[in-house]
Amino acid sequence: MSNRRDIMKVSLLAGGAAMLSAKSALAQIPCNEFDRQTSPPLPSSPATTPFVSPLIVPKVAIPVNPFSLQPPPNPAMHQQYKRFLPLLYYSITEQEAQVQVHPQLPPTTIWGFNGTHPGPTILAEYGIPMLVRFKNALPANHVGFGLPSTSTHLHNFHTASESDGFPADFYDPGTYRDNHYAMYPAGGTSAEVLNTLWYHDHRQDFTSQNVYKGLAGFFLAFDSVDIGIPGLGLNLPAPYGVYDIPLMFVDMRFDQYGQQIFDTFDFDGVLGDKRLVNGQIQPYLNVEPRKYRFRMLNIGPSRFYQYNLSNGQPMIQISNDGNLLPSPITVNSVTLGVAERTDVIIDFSSSKPGDVLYLQNVMEQLNGRGPTTRQLVVPEQLLQFRVGSLKHRDISTVPSAMRPLPPIDLTKVVQHRTWKFDYFQGSWIVNGQVFDATRVDAQVKQGTSEIWTIRNEGTLWSHPIHIHFEEFRLLERNGRPIDPNSVENSRKDVIRIMPGEEVKVFFTFRDFLGRYPMHCHNVVHEDHSMMVRWDIVP
Ligand code: C2O
Ligand code: CU
Ligand code: CU
Repeated sequence: MSNRRDIMKVSLLAGGAAMLSAKSALAQIPCNEFDRQTSPPLPSSPATTPFVSPLIVPKVAIPVNPFSLQPPPNPAMHQQYKRFLPLLYYSITEQEAQVQVHPQLPPTTIWGFNGTHPGPTILAEYGIPMLVRFKNALPANHVGFGLPSTSTHLHNFHTASESDGFPADFYDPGTYRDNHYAMYPAGGTSAEVLNTLWYHDHRQDFTSQNVYKGLAGFFLAFDSVDIGIPGLGLNLPAPYGVYDIPLMFVDMRFDQYGQQIFDTFDFDGVLGDKRLVNGQIQPYLNVEPRKYRFRMLNIGPSRFYQYNLSNGQPMIQISNDGNLLPSPITVNSVTLGVAERTDVIIDFSSSKPGDVLYLQNVMEQLNGRGPTTRQLVVPEQLLQFRVGSLKHRDISTVPSAMRPLPPIDLTKVVQHRTWKFDYFQGSWIVNGQVFDATRVDAQVKQGTSEIWTIRNEGTLWSHPIHIHFEEFRLLERNGRPIDPNSVENSRKDVIRIMPGEEVKVFFTFRDFLGRYPMHCHNVVHEDHSMMVRWDIVP
């Protein structure tokens, strides 16, 4: 034991130069997993009456005239720009704004894409490449938590490194960055199409604060299978904003002036005492007695959820991390770690006009380290559904088959790697080290496959581990092969590892080259500094 600790200590010291001074100072406070100092409890948010404001569906982003982008995009900055020449252009501005998160609270100052939280929803189509200019117009002389320096990442997307929002590729107020999205599925196959995604800030060391301030939005990709038009393709409930509704879950804490409280000294993670859905504390949604598609996303910062319906009705899970399953699965609840997504169909047709039901959380979590193993005695009601009358006949269907899984070709595996996620003296570490953007922790060869073992060395905390760029397939959990009929047999980009767990994942590296991160998506762990860099090389 002491050997392993000593090795970590040496590697931590070696990485010290790259660490922020606050972190180095903290690393000198002796503590271990049992005697860690926890911050004093934070004040509670003012009381708010639940279910008084309607759920807000984020606005759809509108493309701009390419000639309005000045200076024009520079093709030399991007891999395969000519092959995937942008046909659509967007300009999105990161700015400070005042928003009303609840009618009983004074306006809250947030940072949002186009000044809103969630930001505008980008509706994208495979085969139609796009370029999004992200402009940083945040206040340069800002005081308080959050850093007005950003790097925008489209989570889960198959994006060339230079457009992926690498944590060290940040840009400051008054500057911008062009992200080129090829809208090309991995390996060019429709089995690798992604559907429900989100974009968020990924600034090194400040992701948790900047995302909590509001820098997150939806990006929904469609193709000829998941087409988003009633009656076409799989004919899932559509269109966007009517019967296809994204739900962004976040927990926050507010002071009496309505301003967000964020404890920058609690490295375990940050928990809020208010639950927000699409930027509103406990909103309601009027629904018709028919089927809806809900795209559920947990943006943390540190909370895990297990969602169910208050009337005990099951839901139909159609995707995992935004990727359509081979066939729908009927479930009583769905669990999401930070950054995970799931699309569910909820059918309200067995309810009568006037009925009220709730989407609720039943997972107990008392600190930022992760959930307890208990269920809440009193569920947390997150969103109220008010059933009204039917306005349009429901022509949507629950398809019996959706997207087949791509084959797992183990003959292409050229390399096994092991990643141990652990805690040491105030830092969250991977293989004994804190993140250093200039250090390459693994080099993978384009066109090959690898198997990675991801292990949680901790006994008291849980980590939602996220790997950029390529979806992985789970082969084993704790030494046992994955049941082919389980929802874990799907393409994923976040894997929850609970205390002491170990998983094996498979992936193939295709289409683009460059540097990418793997990190814990409890964004407080990510910032302090549970992240590695891996590169794809020719
Ligand atoms: Cu959702 Cu590395 O990010
Ligand atoms: Cu990501
Ligand atoms: Cu973690």
